[in-house]
Amino acid sequence: MNNLISMRDLKRAEIESILDFAARIEQGDVRPDLTGKLAALLFAEPSTRTHFSFDTAMKRMGGQTLSMSGTSSTSLQKGESLADTLKTISMYADLIVLRSAVEGSARFASEVVDIPVINAGDGANQHPTQALLDLYSIIKTQGRLDGLSIALVGDLKFGRTAHSLVQALSEFSPRFFFISPQHLALPSYLLEDLREAGVPYQELTSLDGIVPDLDIMYVTRVQRERFVDPEEYERVKNSYVITPAVLEGAQPTLRVLHPLPRVNEVSTAVDRTTHAYYFQQAANGVPVRQAILAKLLGTEGTK
Ligand code: CP
Repeated sequence: MNNLISMRDLKRAEIESILDFAARIEQGDVRPDLTGKLAALLFAEPSTRTHFSFDTAMKRMGGQTLSMSGTSSTSLQKGESLADTLKTISMYADLIVLRSAVEGSARFASEVVDIPVINAGDGANQHPTQALLDLYSIIKTQGRLDGLSIALVGDLKFGRTAHSLVQALSEFSPRFFFISPQHLALPSYLLEDLREAGVPYQELTSLDGIVPDLDIMYVTRVQRERFVDPEEYERVKNSYVITPAVLEGAQPTLRVLHPLPRVNEVSTAVDRTTHAYYFQQAANGVPVRQAILAKLLGTEGTK
């Protein structure tokens, strides 16, 4: 693995290797040492979890970070190209973590620099490190990845975390339920991939009748920033609100995941149920990102 750009690039064995490494890091069985390594955290779009957990992950392994939050203080504002900016930063850092509103930007970055690039979210396309921490969270809560019933609920059109997670889980014989308003359905290229792989799925507009069947309910925010028409956002923003009443009849082992941030699609009353797992999920981002950074920087380490 030289870069982490898309879940489409990772096969089951590579995914399992990262997740196993993350578990060993979290358990203290292995301590990668990134002393002397510098990661450039370039976030052109807002972020709380991804930015701070990458920062935490580097520092927990003795490494250091350069941070950019927004482009307003960079020479991009003077008309410098993204390619020149990335090439310059690659002269200072050992690895780039990039978030951008532009789909394909991380792939582009990986083609113009000679250091590893991690995609921390490119527009509505991909968010592979989120998918890996989502898988890690699913293993922790269900004890396995294979053969689970998983509903993805909300904005499946613009939700990059949903796109990456669908691709990641496809390696593990899932049964999918895709719950969204018709205009926010999962992109057809992902559905085609599922059909080709023989992965069963149902597209629905309501959770009615399926909650008792689920192992995982993965809820996503309607991505306001991707809508061209604000009125369309207003029409769909409250399509699904998960409350304790919605979860009645669920298996005790059902866990509600959400990449966060949430707006109001998961009621805070759900936080007090045993089904809520989204804050622990965010915490799982640290060992998973430690594992990714250590692998890409070639310093997996031993105890
Ligand atoms: N899940 C996620 O990507 O959150 P942030 O936008 O806060 O990084």
